[in-house]
Amino acid sequence: MKILITGGAGFIGSHVVRLLVNKYPEYNILNLDKLTYAGNLENLRDVENKPNYSFVRGDITEAGFINNLFAKEAFDGVIHLAAESHVDRSLENPNAFVVTNIIGTVNLLQAALKTWNGNPAKRFYHISTDEVYGSIEDGGLFTEHTSIDPQSPYSASKAGSDHFVSAFHNSYKLPVLISRCSNNYGPNHFPEKLIPLMIHNILENKPLPVYGKGENVRDWLYVEDHAKAIDAIFHKGVTGEVYNIGGNNEWKNIDLVHLLCSIMDQKLGRDQGTAAKLITYVKDRPGHDLRYAIDSSKLQSELGWSPSLTFEEGLDKTVAWYLNNKEWLDHVTSGQYLEYYKQMYTNR
Ligand code: NAD
Ligand code: DAU
Repeated sequence: MKILITGGAGFIGSHVVRLLVNKYPEYNILNLDKLTYAGNLENLRDVENKPNYSFVRGDITEAGFINNLFAKEAFDGVIHLAAESHVDRSLENPNAFVVTNIIGTVNLLQAALKTWNGNPAKRFYHISTDEVYGSIEDGGLFTEHTSIDPQSPYSASKAGSDHFVSAFHNSYKLPVLISRCSNNYGPNHFPEKLIPLMIHNILENKPLPVYGKGENVRDWLYVEDHAKAIDAIFHKGVTGEVYNIGGNNEWKNIDLVHLLCSIMDQKLGRDQGTAAKLITYVKDRPGHDLRYAIDSSKLQSELGWSPSLTFEEGLDKTVAWYLNNKEWLDHVTSGQYLEYYKQMYTNR
């Protein structure tokens, strides 16, 4: 099997690459990533010299490059994670999200269509998000049949890409899979997202910005459990189907931030209440979705996946990782290592 993983230098992508490279030594895994601010090859140091792994720096928005890559490599499958992923950035610059998330995805679909010649054994797996469903009232859960109702430019761009993936299945019988996951957390998460930002700011003694009243609810899943779900869906999922992935683990933002503060105080040997003094309520995110909650029973019953870690275990591992990898935080916040890797891979 020759598998293309896009966005493999990012947060979730690097965990997917690591899992597949280690679990399937007989596969060839090619990681294609542009190395935007969110991509970091340091995330993959432990697998970069494995014989079944290779890296190409490239941009999914460049159709000519993508077509040549598919013609040259004869991929058996694609696991597509490359995206602009941060809601706040999408509010500032929606065009970047249209270009990468929609046009980039359509370029990959077109290249797969041209080179796969209707072969039903191939697999084009698109990694989507629960945010395409919009917000859901208390007690409700998103199922795979919930209407798509995106509310932010990020989720609108992901919903657009989902529709193109489904359209390629419907119109051309391209063998596709889609999964929609809830909020991930864990090692290598860029410190612009809630959990790593709070850890970073507590370490730097900076304010902890909580949007609005902190009452928005997110359903958190440890990133390695997401990677295992992706492995299960890629290998056992039925093409044309959508699978929801979630942790059954809802937290109000403010409760989660207090829990993190308490874990950080304990691990840093400080008095309880020290980090919480940094909590600062700030202006709400425009159009802020109030609640996400996922029903992943289809994935659990049909493909036998379930989360392996409790939230307490996952959060403890995550905080420990950041405390042991402060250099990683310095590198990604300064961009220094990114420049080094970009120069190393200027010629693809
Ligand atoms: P991330 O921002 O950490 O990583 C994105 C990766 O894509 C980076 O390595 C970046 O360099 C690469 N990339 C961006 N634009 C590119 C381009 N034009 N060409 C090639 N590579 C490019 O994102 P993440 O949090 O790891 O999310 C990965 C995927 O999972 C995304 O599609 C996202 O929508 C989806 N998702 C994320 C979450 C979450 O909680 N983080 C939850 C559900 C779904
Ligand atoms: O649900 C899946 C989605 O989860 C993914 O598709 C996205 O790629 C990923 O970024 C994430 O989106 P969110 O917007 O939910 O994640 P974020 O970490 O940005 O915010 C989590 C919650 O915390 C949200 O309600 C906004 C709030 N927040 C966030 C930040 C960065 C704050 O209160 N303060 C902050 O500084």
